[in-house]
Amino acid sequence: METLMILVTGATGTIGGHLVRQLAEAGAAFRALVRSEAKGAALGHPFAVGDFDDAESLRAALAGADRLFLCGGGAVPVAHGEPQPMIRQEKAAIDAARAAGVRYVVKVSVWRPTPGAPLSVGAHAEIERHLAASGLAWATLQPTGFMQNFAPGGAIEGAYGTGRVAYVDAADIAACAAALLTAAEPREGAFPLTGPEALTHAEIAARLGVPFRDLPPEAAAAALRARGLPAGFVTDLLTLYAGMAAGEMAEVTPTVRDLTGRAPRSFDDFLAFGRHAGRGGR
Ligand SMILES: NC(=O)c1ccc[n+]([C@@H]2O[C@H](COP(=O)([O-])OP(=O)(O)OC[C@H]3O[C@@H](n4cnc5c(N)ncnc54)[C@H](OP(=O)(O)O)[C@@H]3O)[C@@H](O)[C@H]2O)c1
Repeated sequence: METLMILVTGATGTIGGHLVRQLAEAGAAFRALVRSEAKGAALGHPFAVGDFDDAESLRAALAGADRLFLCGGGAVPVAHGEPQPMIRQEKAAIDAARAAGVRYVVKVSVWRPTPGAPLSVGAHAEIERHLAASGLAWATLQPTGFMQNFAPGGAIEGAYGTGRVAYVDAADIAACAAALLTAAEPREGAFPLTGPEALTHAEIAARLGVPFRDLPPEAAAAALRARGLPAGFVTDLLTLYAGMAAGEMAEVTPTVRDLTGRAPRSFDDFLAFGRHAGRGGR
């Protein structure tokens, strides 16, 4: 079989850190796009220095690549009505991939991307549409929240109510990406990724051994504003809380097992093995 060259973006991030290790273990040929020489040297794998906002660096990094793993930083606070930078950046990467002759893009997206929805949910929908129209073979990974979102020792506070969320380990997202990126033939479609169980935030707090403070939405908004977040961003975050409280992320999918051949990691296993092993975990 021909050797496929993969360009891995987001390689210094939560998913990407697992992915480069998994690809190296699998003997796959890849290079990572990183934003500085120092980050590349720390990664310990082949790399190209570049940025989504630097077209020439994308062109150089993609030269000779057959497949692209596309993962950027997600939504950031922007002025009201301004588009998320991630839309411009990921579209640029897709366009550069097509120009470079890449044949297959595996993109990290979000659970139920929805046009016009706030933050990354709407942004990913717009990028997915661009990818689907690109003429390239594509797969999108649509995870719920990451288990890694919970900082060790910190209390869980928010307007989560009793809504359940099937959080997924980023290492399992990476394993799904690795399976797709190294498959002989591109497997196309949207892949909704969850952990094996849906938990309330009270249950997660109990597993973490930290306090859980469920706040009414207005109190949660006030707490976020007090941390200096802009009002429009806080409104958007409250919309996401409301979706979680309504159980919109409670579904458990069989996709991690379908793609990797093994069960996704449970929160208990993540806490026992994954968190402390960091990116050295599965
Ligand atoms: N957290 C969640 O619960 C959740 C849930 C569903 C979906 N998602 C999606 O998952 C993605 C984030 O994945 P992650 O948490 O693994 O990533 P992450 O840890 O936030 O890291 C982001 C990566 O993107 C790189 N990056 C950022 N801006 C860049 C630019 N302008 N040019 C090149 N590279 C750039 C960063 O490089 P540096 O190291 O140089 O900064 C880093 O490697 C987002 O699309 C988000 O919407 C997240």
